[in-house]
Amino acid sequence: MPIASLVAAARPNFMKLAPLLRALDDTTIESVVVHTGQHYDEPMSGAFFDDLGIRPPDLDLGIGSGTHAEQTAGVMVAFEQHLVERRPDVVVVFGDVNSTLACALAAAKLDIPVAHVEAGLRSGDWTMPEEINRVLTDRLSTWLFTPSADADENLLAEGIPAERTHLVGNIMIDTLLRFLPTARDRFGGIGARHGLVPGAYGVLTLHRPSNVDDPQTLQALLTALGNLATDVPLLWPMHPRTRASVLDRGISIPPGILTIDPLGYLDFVAVVDRSRIVLTDSGGLQEETSVLGVPCVTIRDNTERPVTCELGTNRLAGTDGASVVAAAREALARSWEPAEIPLWDGRTGERIAELLDTALGPGR
Ligand code: UD1
Repeated sequence: MPIASLVAAARPNFMKLAPLLRALDDTTIESVVVHTGQHYDEPMSGAFFDDLGIRPPDLDLGIGSGTHAEQTAGVMVAFEQHLVERRPDVVVVFGDVNSTLACALAAAKLDIPVAHVEAGLRSGDWTMPEEINRVLTDRLSTWLFTPSADADENLLAEGIPAERTHLVGNIMIDTLLRFLPTARDRFGGIGARHGLVPGAYGVLTLHRPSNVDDPQTLQALLTALGNLATDVPLLWPMHPRTRASVLDRGISIPPGILTIDPLGYLDFVAVVDRSRIVLTDSGGLQEETSVLGVPCVTIRDNTERPVTCELGTNRLAGTDGASVVAAAREALARSWEPAEIPLWDGRTGERIAELLDTALGPGR
């Protein structure tokens, strides 16, 4: 039986892994879930396994936090040992976190084929650690599973042979569509807990080092957002990186911005779904809001997900507080519909499983 090692590492990976893991159950491929431990706190990891019904990892490398080199190298060394012991037929990596690149690199050096789910996305911003992870992971991969046609074009432009690239759609949307009814049932609880009136509040998330690591940048942004929050109160589930930055540096949070601990997947989808607007520097949230029809103001200068601006509800606002607030006010002034993006249909996991099964299964 062919073996696929699936790499789980950080919060945004788990909703990408779940649909493929489920779909592989219907194939001849045996899946092994390896958690690198890049994210380890219960709200950043365990809560997602529970919410999404992912079985506990078969192996936890327990690497934890560190500098980029420490984290990447730690994952490589530990993951290499797994590769030597199990010798999988394919290593499947997701997204663009440090563990994605670390595991792809360890596998490629042992001549084990790599499949990259969410391949081909490019922000063009080489100062983002994720952009480095994306480009290098794609270069190391045998199967490149892309979410949208722009990703295929990016890969072709980089000289990646077209036969390696498979436009399969957005796997995170598989999870969103599957769990949306359950999430909607949770709004009563989570909404009441934080006093949320449907359609009358916004959701804020911030975790990019470029937005949160420098106290002056973060303070300026929050002060501007405080202005918006007098009209539309903002709920801010705070990422641990951001919380550390806020607590250590005496950042003041304007009234109208309610900070809470990170939410699990279902509660988070519930609050986003009923929100009036989302302001974020996340990648995945640009996609989820587009599908939900909630306007999204992205607090960044670039996006690796341009399809969400072209076909979805996303708008790139830059990182200057005044521009972010102006973009938010424009978004609030009009109505929005859920986007229809080709192949974001809830079946991406099945398509990937089928392609891998055809390539590795007994019929190959
Ligand atoms: C990582 C990814 C980023 C992704 C984000 C989602 C990289 C380079 N970055 O960023 O692409 O969007 O995850 O959340 O891989 N921490 C905890 N508990 C945890 C995990 C982290 O407290 O469970 C704290 C630690 O202080 C750590 C810091 O958060 O140093 C940053 O964690 P890290 O995984 O290095 O990067 P993220 O900012 O989470």
